[in-house]
Amino acid sequence: MEAPTSVVVLISGSGSNLQAIIDACKNQSINASISAVISNRPDASGLERAKKSNIPAHYIDHTEFPDRESFDTALAEIIDQYQPELIILAGFMRILSASFIRRFSGQTLNIHPSLLPKFPGLNTHTRAIDAGETQHGCTVHFVTEALDGGPLIAYSELNINIDDTAESLAKRVLTMEHNLYPKVISLFAEKRLYMKGDSVELDGERLTSPLKIIEHSRDNK
Ligand code: GRF
Repeated sequence: MEAPTSVVVLISGSGSNLQAIIDACKNQSINASISAVISNRPDASGLERAKKSNIPAHYIDHTEFPDRESFDTALAEIIDQYQPELIILAGFMRILSASFIRRFSGQTLNIHPSLLPKFPGLNTHTRAIDAGETQHGCTVHFVTEALDGGPLIAYSELNINIDDTAESLAKRVLTMEHNLYPKVISLFAEKRLYMKGDSVELDGERLTSPLKIIEHSRDNK
C-alpha cells in the first residue's frame, strides 16, 4: 500500500465532517493521515474532536489580523509546517484570498451544502426551498478563486419533501456530506483524482459531469 496522503483540515465550527474524515482514516477507508486541524475560531468544537484523536489542533483567529492577506499568509505558514498533499475545507467559513488559493491549487477540496452550481454562498437550504426546488444535496469541488465555483467532483442528492424546513434539510444534507466527503477524499488519496485546468480527471479521464454518490443512510430516505 502507498504511504498515506497527508492532509490538513480547515474548520470553523462543529467539525462533524472532520469527524467523518477522522473516522474514515481510522477505519482505513481513506488512505490518508490528518497531520493537523486548523480553525479560524478558537471556540470551534472541531478542535476538541481533533485533540481527542491526538491530531495537532491549531487556531488562528482571523479577527486579530488587519486584512485577509495577512491572515492567509499566517494560515499558510501553519499549513507549511506540515507540507500536506491535500487541504480539506470542512465548514471553513472564511473566503480565502486569490494568492492562497493559487498556491494550493489542485490540492484543496471543499464541500458545499447544495447541488452546485445552484446556490453558492450561504443559506442554501432556505434558498432551495424558497426557489421551489424538488431536489437538493451537497457537492464536493476543487477550490478555485470562484467562490463555490471550482470544478465539480461529486454530489449526493435527496428529494425535498413537502414538510421539509431549512432545519430538516440541513440535517439530512449534513448526513449525506459525511458519506460523500470521505469517498471523494479517498479518490484523491489514491491519486485517481486531479484538477486539470477547469476540469476534473478521474483515472486519467476527464469527468464530463460530476460523480453521483448514493447515500445509503436511513436518515435520507
Ligand atoms: C457543512 O454543511 C458544510 O457543507 C458547510 O458547513 C457545514 C459544516 O459542518 N460548508 P461541520 O462543521 O462539518 O459539522
